[in-house]
Amino acid sequence: MSDDHDHNDEQDDHELRVSKIRSGTVIDHVRGGQALNVLAILGIDGSEGEEVSVGMNVPSDRLARKDIVKVEGRELSQDEVDVLSLIAPDATINIVRDFEVIEKHRVERPEIVDGVLSCPNAGCISTSGEPVVSTFEVLDDGVRCGYCETIVRDEIASLIDT
Ligand code: CTP
Ligand code: ZN
Repeated sequence: MSDDHDHNDEQDDHELRVSKIRSGTVIDHVRGGQALNVLAILGIDGSEGEEVSVGMNVPSDRLARKDIVKVEGRELSQDEVDVLSLIAPDATINIVRDFEVIEKHRVERPEIVDGVLSCPNAGCISTSGEPVVSTFEVLDDGVRCGYCETIVRDEIASLIDT
């Protein structure tokens, strides 16, 4: 096997920036600067003893700079992956078991996300206590409420229901 065949862009010649994990999920190729939003989406703030490693603005082949988040002992739900895709459209989700990557896939942007974001418009029917499930259409550069058509481009992570 040639040395450059298996190039891992988290590594420089010798060392791994963030330790490997035993089993859990590596969210790789996150846009530089978005790692803390990834943690917010996953509901991780460290207060429950979660074992998490984060690399920020590390050099990457595919992106100029990337963030990487490694969560020990956790696999992600489809809802979580759907919301991650909104802030980290190039992310790769790697499922690790026993130190090996057993599954790898790119996130896909869904057309619609239901029941995960809450509308920032206080006058929206979806936030007025009525029994309606939030629904947002995914645009190229943001999301649009299916009820009041409010568009959110930045700060999507702040709309996440917790
Ligand atoms: N990784 C980890 N712990 C492991 C195995 C892998 O933290 N036990 C990390 C690697 O450091 C890398 C990511 O998971 O950041 C994906 O691993 P791998 O598929 O081996 O690396 P690449 O081939 O470079 O992945 P890609 O082609 O997606 O860039
Ligand atoms: Zn709305």
